[in-house]
Amino acid sequence: MPAIEIRSRDEGHRFEVDSGERILYGGLRSGLDLPYECATGTCGSCKARLLDGELEELWPDAPGKDLLKPNSGDFLMCQCVPKGSGAVTAEVSKPVARLQADAHAPGWAKGVVIQAPRYLTHDVMAVDVQLDRPVRFEAGQFMALEVADVPGTRGYSMVNYATETDRLAFVIKRKPGGGVSEWLFGGDRAGTPVRLFGPLGTALFRPEMDTNILCIAGGTGIAGIMSILQRACDEQYFDNHRGDVFFGVRTPADAFYLDELSTFSRKFPQTLNITVAFSDQPADDAFKRKHGGIHFKEGFVHEVAGTAMADRLQGLTAYLAGPPPAVEASVRLLVMSRVSPANIRYDKFS
Ligand code: FES
Repeated sequence: MPAIEIRSRDEGHRFEVDSGERILYGGLRSGLDLPYECATGTCGSCKARLLDGELEELWPDAPGKDLLKPNSGDFLMCQCVPKGSGAVTAEVSKPVARLQADAHAPGWAKGVVIQAPRYLTHDVMAVDVQLDRPVRFEAGQFMALEVADVPGTRGYSMVNYATETDRLAFVIKRKPGGGVSEWLFGGDRAGTPVRLFGPLGTALFRPEMDTNILCIAGGTGIAGIMSILQRACDEQYFDNHRGDVFFGVRTPADAFYLDELSTFSRKFPQTLNITVAFSDQPADDAFKRKHGGIHFKEGFVHEVAGTAMADRLQGLTAYLAGPPPAVEASVRLLVMSRVSPANIRYDKFS
């Protein structure tokens, strides 16, 4: 197996990768807290500089490469594997530690897609995967999903939450040219084998953090927020904390999970407030009546959240999820309102 050494701040961290395994995944699997965000080639956070050895790039056009310095030896650890069985030495500029003892170390799992396609809207699908072994993850984390015959990996947040489970639920939006999403929308994929790597991501919720929470999600970004709400409700978190959830979509026809969100809010009517914001077309009265327990507003979700939360932003933990421009707009809003960056949680993957 190829031997890897990652140097950081005068320390060397050694591990082995399986044949054809991405350097990032091998390092995370061995318990190293290597830098990354998307784990799928888009964000550039896993940048390292090659000192010795040879690499093979799995996705030469990965968008994350835009952040690399040309001709410097910089590469993306999530998109490179050692060439052949040769050793590789590289360095990263960020500190590298061992994963915390209570963190769930990422690993590989095999699974199969279960159930026929379940459309939540015309371009959003619910997909469940049955795993060959139980996995543990924190609410808010995601998995990198691989499908044979579809190049690359794609990150998807878990919708469900359980301390340990062999069944994962995802929501997937149809994206023109998106390999995995086009494949899923192309027919009945029930029974198809998939491979998953995870759990990944740091925008996670744990009840012991003991703060009010604010969630701002656009589109399928609501997936990880559903997991957070599931865990928080299971733990009766809203008995003693306030939760404010803002879910943005374009029109009422693009909204989904409204019954589930209503159920969450009815469990904690005094402390859990859920608002759905429509940017392009408002909901009519019949739609609003049908989804009691949810507030409906017009506008971009970060603007709706900013107005509603204007005097209540201090001391809470904020979870942001969705398309990068929407997440960036929410980050700007929170930073301008002097919310500490340490209290703003999101993972850049899309
Ligand atoms: Fe590798 Fe995002 S590009 S972690």
